[in-house]
Amino acid sequence: MEPQVQRVSGSEVPSGATHYAVEIEGLGHAFTCRAGDSLLAAMVARGLRGIPVGCRGGGCGVCKVEVFDGRYAALKMSVDHVSAEDQAQHRVLACRIVPHSDLQVRVIGQMANTVRRLIDGASQAERSGGRNGLPNQS
Ligand code: FES
Repeated sequence: MEPQVQRVSGSEVPSGATHYAVEIEGLGHAFTCRAGDSLLAAMVARGLRGIPVGCRGGGCGVCKVEVFDGRYAALKMSVDHVSAEDQAQHRVLACRIVPHSDLQVRVIGQMANTVRRLIDGASQAERSGGRNGLPNQS
């Protein structure tokens, strides 16, 4: 099935699910986000890394991601970090979106290259049998 992305109104009631699975491209695993929580808050609450964490309130722009599958509601975002074109292309701030379905995202903010290096390093360590430096998933 082709990935589909849909931005919904912030007042739309989620599907009734209590949790959604969120996958960050390249990490190879998903984590759960409680319905109503922001994507970034859910990741932080589980002690995970993958999306850079800054102000957690839409002010710094480091948590920028592109949603490439799933439905989400977006809270107001500063045009300093997210243009109208960004929003149309589902490039948003992880601290300002609330999943309304399972989501797949990729990190695209100013620290995206750093995240990619961490993921590549973790994958290499995993292949060689060492610790991967990323937290355990449970
Ligand atoms: S953490 Fe600063 S904008 Fe999201």
